Amino acid sequence: MKLVYLSSAVAFGSAIADTAPWEGPGPNDVRSPCPMLNTLANHGFLPHDGKSITVNKTVDALSSALNIDPELSTFLHEFAVTTNPQPNATTFDLNHLSRHNILEHDGSLSRQDSYFGPPDVFNEAVFNETKSYWTGDILTIQMAANARVARLMTSNLTNPEYSLSEIGSRFSIGESVAYLSILGSKETGTVPKAYVEYLFENERLPYELGFSKMKDPLTEEDLGNLMDKLVEAQHFPQSPGKISKRAERPSEKRAGKRCPFH
Ligand code: HEM
Repeated sequence: MKLVYLSSAVAFGSAIADTAPWEGPGPNDVRSPCPMLNTLANHGFLPHDGKSITVNKTVDALSSALNIDPELSTFLHEFAVTTNPQPNATTFDLNHLSRHNILEHDGSLSRQDSYFGPPDVFNEAVFNETKSYWTGDILTIQMAANARVARLMTSNLTNPEYSLSEIGSRFSIGESVAYLSILGSKETGTVPKAYVEYLFENERLPYELGFSKMKDPLTEEDLGNLMDKLVEAQHFPQSPGKISKRAERPSEKRAGKRCPFH
């Protein structure tokens, strides 16, 4: 794999200055259900063995590779350490994140539910279902919402132990907007599909497709705003038209009543 990197360094000339070498995990390295954290370990932004990740390492990696605001990275690190089986831990190993129903949840985009087997490794059949909802070369919030809801629905229908906690649900929403904004644009909530597929399938940053890290840091507020938009896009049926507000019924108008759902 190092050879692949060297040959692309020659092919891409000066652009390589912004990139980082890549090497897949070795036999003693650990990885997680998060395609991005695995990617950052493969590039060496995070420890390549995936172990003993401190808050400083999380903040530095997410900032230097992706331009994520330190406050948001610190917040995510705090969640990550809750998966460490050691009480009061301040670090985590990537494989701690696979522990079911702490942060790892059912209905993932590219991993099977833990009921069916290990939930940390890429699963082609699951990812094919997700991809079937990515219906354009540029992914939008609507496509991401469709894919996420479809995966949750499939899990709900097929996994007799299906569950999704409040925190699992927030993570699931956050993960969908993370690939839109961090690989694409936080302003438009769009991203080239090729970048996202490349990341999931190779656990490598899509530099060779033209990816570069965001110009402005992504903050917790940015993420929250996009999460609200993703949730709004879940009100079906909606695509490809706009949400049209239901007109007030004459009887409601007379009684001064509004429908509780509108
Ligand atoms: C310290 C920071 C982070 C932590 C602790 C974290 C944690 C996790 C965990 C536990 C999962 C598994 C959820 C599941 O069961 O599907 C996950 C999935 C995911 N993460 Fe991360 N993550 C972090 C940063 C990022 C970043 C920066 C991105 C940027 C794109 C990202 C993108 C994703 C995506 C797209 C998934 C969904 C994978 C799937 O559904 O198959 N994560 N993350």
